[in-house]
Amino acid sequence: MQVEVKRENEYVPNLAVLKNRTDMTELETLFEFEFKDKDLQDHFSYKPGQFIQLSMFGIGEAPFSISSTPTRPGTIELGIRRAGDVTEAIHRLEPGDVVGLRGPYGNGFPLEKIKGKDILIVAGGIGLVPLRSAINYIIDEREDFGHMTLFYGACLPEERIFVDELENDWPSAPEVDVLQTVDECHETWMGNVGVVTTLFDKYEVDSENTVALICGPPVMYRFVVKELLDLDFRRDEIYMSLERRMKCGVGKCAHCQVGHKLVCKDGPVFTYFEVQRLQEAI
Ligand SMILES: Cc1cc2nc3c(=O)[nH]c(=O)nc-3n(C[C@H](O)[C@H](O)[C@H](O)COP(=O)(O)OP(=O)(O)OC[C@H]3O[C@@H](n4cnc5c(N)ncnc54)[C@H](O)[C@@H]3O)c2cc1C
Ligand code: FES
Repeated sequence: MQVEVKRENEYVPNLAVLKNRTDMTELETLFEFEFKDKDLQDHFSYKPGQFIQLSMFGIGEAPFSISSTPTRPGTIELGIRRAGDVTEAIHRLEPGDVVGLRGPYGNGFPLEKIKGKDILIVAGGIGLVPLRSAINYIIDEREDFGHMTLFYGACLPEERIFVDELENDWPSAPEVDVLQTVDECHETWMGNVGVVTTLFDKYEVDSENTVALICGPPVMYRFVVKELLDLDFRRDEIYMSLERRMKCGVGKCAHCQVGHKLVCKDGPVFTYFEVQRLQEAI
C-alpha cells in the first residue's frame, strides 16, 4: 500500500531521526532516516526514482532521490554529496539528530510497466543513488522481471559508491550482471578503464524485450543514448532521470521547468522520446 506523507499544508515536513550514517567516499555519505511518527514508519511508501525534500532547520531545504527500496520498509536511505550549505549541514548530522522530510515526489521509474522485460541499467557517479532503489527492488521482486545488467562508471575507483553491493550483493543475485569501469585508475585497479560507454564493447546487449534506465552526469546521457539507439532500443523504452534546480517540488513554482514540462511533477523520469522534444533537456 502506498501512503503519502500526510500533511494539511504540503510544505510542512514530517520529522525524521537520523539512525545511521555511512561514509561512502570523501564527498558522499549514505544517511538512514526513520520517521518519528509510528504510522509513517510503518506505512510510508514510495517508488524507486522518486525524491524527497529534506529540511535542515534554519538552513534550508533540498531535493534528494530516495536510495532505499520500498520492498525493505521502515527507514529511508539518502545518498548525499557535499555541495553547498544544505548538504554540508546534512554531512554534520549525527545519529539522533532530527530533520524534516516531505514527499515522496515525482513519478519514479515505471517498474510496473516494465515487468517481464530484461533491464539494462546505465549509471554514472552518484546517478547510482536513485538506480540503487530500482536495482534492489528488482532483486527483491526477482520473478517479476527478466535479466538485469548494470553498467556503472565512476571517475576514480575510490569515487565509486555502494561498493559492497557492486562487488558482492548484486553480482551474486540471480540473473544479474554487473560491469564497472573508471575513467582513470591506479595500479591496484584490475577492472575496465574508460568512460561508461566503453562497456558496450565488452558485453553483448540485446535490445529485444529490453528497456534501459539511465542516470548520471548530464554529459553522459547523449553518449549512452547514441549507443542504445545504435542497438535499436526504442526511444520510448529508454528512461532517464533528469535533475534541475528545484524549490517547491510539487509543481507550483516552475523553477524546474524544461520546455513545457516540470521536472518535479512530470518527471524526474522521462523517456528519451519525451526528452527529444524538450529543448536543452540533456
Ligand atoms: C530530483 C533531484 C534529486 C536529487 N538527488 C540527489 C541525491 O540523491 N544526492 C545528492 O547528493 N544530490 C541530489 N540532488 C542534488 C541536490 O539537491 C543538490 O546538491 C542540493 O540541492 C545542493 O544544495 P546545497 O545548499 O548543499 O548547495 P547549493 O549551494 O545550492 O549548490 C551547490 C552547487 O551545486 C549545484 N546544484 C545545486 N542543485 C543542483 C541541481 N539540482 N542540479 C545541478 N546542480 C545543482 C549549484 O549550482 C552549486 O554549484 C538532487 C536534485 C534533484 C533536483
Ligand atoms: S520545483 Fe517548483 S515547480 Fe518544480
